[in-house]
Amino acid sequence: MIPYSTQTIEDDDIRAVTSVLHSPYLTCGPKVTEFEEQVASYVGATYAVACNSCTSALHLSMMALGVQKGDLVYVSAVSFVASANCARYLDADVEFMDVNKDTGNLDLNLLEEQLEKAKKNGRLPKVIVAVHLSGRPVDLRRLKVLKDLYGFYILEDAAHALGAIYEEHKIGDCFYSDITVFSFHPVKIITTGEGGMCMTNNETFYNSIRCLSSHGIIHDRDYLIDKSMPNYYYEMQQLGFNYRITDLQAALGISQMGKLDRFLQKRREFARELTELLSQDKNLILPPPDTQDSISSWHLYQVGIPFDKRDEVYTILRKRGIGVQIHYLPIYRHPYYQSLKHYQPLQGAERFFKHTLSMPLYPKMKRLDLQMCAATLLRLIDMER
Ligand SMILES: Cc1ncc(COP(=O)(O)O)c(C=O)c1O
Repeated sequence: MIPYSTQTIEDDDIRAVTSVLHSPYLTCGPKVTEFEEQVASYVGATYAVACNSCTSALHLSMMALGVQKGDLVYVSAVSFVASANCARYLDADVEFMDVNKDTGNLDLNLLEEQLEKAKKNGRLPKVIVAVHLSGRPVDLRRLKVLKDLYGFYILEDAAHALGAIYEEHKIGDCFYSDITVFSFHPVKIITTGEGGMCMTNNETFYNSIRCLSSHGIIHDRDYLIDKSMPNYYYEMQQLGFNYRITDLQAALGISQMGKLDRFLQKRREFARELTELLSQDKNLILPPPDTQDSISSWHLYQVGIPFDKRDEVYTILRKRGIGVQIHYLPIYRHPYYQSLKHYQPLQGAERFFKHTLSMPLYPKMKRLDLQMCAATLLRLIDMER
């Protein structure tokens, strides 16, 4: 089966991990700091905290933003469940934001209407989780205008979007937002096995995330409550977690960061080629190309299938060894969320979910396989007509 995405691991990645196995530190060592500094410098953020997943990075971000029971958090409706679960871990209420029916990305016009209504009802969100679906940047400038009007925090879920560029900003520089999180799961742009990272320019958020990622423990004497104790002393000042990444993973991350631009170039090249091939059939809804102000990382190539045939096309392609995927069932449709309250279906999210298929696309994919996948899809659509 050709997967929709998979990791690219090369000999030097393996050597990087092996060398850590021979070193004194398997965790809490110098590789973690080096990895954090490398990602922060690449995206242009002041602070970074590496975590053992993007899910834990989301959880820590919510805590740093002060989300508590009864607070309201808005989340893009089309995303992986982790984008919303981070609010639920803290017993916050989740509302969903509708998306563009063709791209799955936040619809800022609808969000503005939703916020206006929320203001009238006296219940505005504390945080908005904006998902850069498939690696395509959300319109952050416009979102920031709304943030200034309605007073919420912006948390960018950039699990898909390492290397994406919005205007002259790399996603993750937090120019328009409070915190951005990345994922380094194997299907993502680079991998550390499991892994994630929080990026921010805010020192208070950074200190909070750093402390919570390691049990809520403080070692720095300047911040201890009892400064009279000897050097062995540390304090747990709040209830935190062990969400740390290991040095083994960080070494892999450092090695992968060295290849990031090559990986991105390949993804962009393949995306352009898929668009060129698939544009032969005008019934397919193709993802919009990159523009000067919006350059996707192309984590996913999501194509809209016509004639209500998406499920049929999905099944046939999978039977033929083409590992297409569906991203995603709108989060509010999951039984857990339905058990919380009756979420009304959102039109854009429903349309996007119903017609969209993610085609295989990853850096080490063979060009001939890419062309074969496109040709198979074109033939199928032709037969369905
Ligand atoms: C949009 C989005 N957010 C968050 C996550 C969670 O990432 P992780 O698997 O690193 O915890 C994912 C994972 O697929 C994702 O797609």
